[in-house]
Amino acid sequence: MLLEINNLNAGYGFLQILRDVSLKIDKAEYVSLIGPNGAGKSTTLKTVAGIVKPMSGQILFNGEDIGGRPGNRVTRLGISYISEEMNLFTNMTVLENMMMGAYTVREKSAKNRLLKFAYGLFPRLEERRNQLAGTLSGGERKMLGIGRALMADPKLLLVDEPSFGLAPQLTDQVFDSLNTLRKEGKTILVVEQNVTKTLSVTDRGYVLENGRIELEGPSEELAGDAHVRKVFLGV
Ligand SMILES: Nc1ncnc2c1ncn2[C@@H]1O[C@H](COP(=O)(O)OP(=O)(O)OP(=O)(O)O)[C@@H](O)[C@H]1O
Ligand SMILES: [Mg+2]
Repeated sequence: MLLEINNLNAGYGFLQILRDVSLKIDKAEYVSLIGPNGAGKSTTLKTVAGIVKPMSGQILFNGEDIGGRPGNRVTRLGISYISEEMNLFTNMTVLENMMMGAYTVREKSAKNRLLKFAYGLFPRLEERRNQLAGTLSGGERKMLGIGRALMADPKLLLVDEPSFGLAPQLTDQVFDSLNTLRKEGKTILVVEQNVTKTLSVTDRGYVLENGRIELEGPSEELAGDAHVRKVFLGV
């Protein structure tokens, strides 16, 4: 297992959000985490990414317990978190943002290789490399968020709501790029509101409700599950 979360409890201060969350992701798997607003999906990703401290439980990455390590250490181990807001440096250019993403990479040649890979995936970013990030369109910003995360050469990508605020066509583009990454051997855990789309592209999924994993299984099965259809698809 690349990532194994066992009985994770986490939250903010005394407020517990995640309750006994367990999930596993194998190398090169593409897994979704779905759930209603406020269920704790982002909290789950943030806890793995070292932004939220676990109260108890285990987060094993390649068998090593990384629970409670600070975010920059987690990034160095090969985990990149792409938040909804993406926290781009708006007064810096696309290229400068990309290079900031490579802060864990020492060698110039490695940085160039990663940049080439990301530009290959998002040619638009290369075209706009000298544009200020703050002036990019919503879709381009999303691409930059993912592109910058790739500059850290992650093994595991935690992607929070890639389709948020995007028109359907751009949503498809972003999902296509995740698919390409997956084919390149990256492991991806994606959180999404667009449940139909997500379950049609991922291998497996977990359903989080009120901080608990209520269901898990192959995405195809989840898509046909009566509870999932009732809660997420209104049928
Ligand atoms: N920094 C914080 N301090 C206190 N409570 C927080 C904080 N961040 C999130 N919460 C609370 O934790 C709960 C879970 O939030 P989280 O962002 O993980 O939900 P989510 O499943 O990602 O929801 P959404 O689909 O709306 O993004 C919510 O009730 C939220 O208000
Ligand atoms: Mg969220």
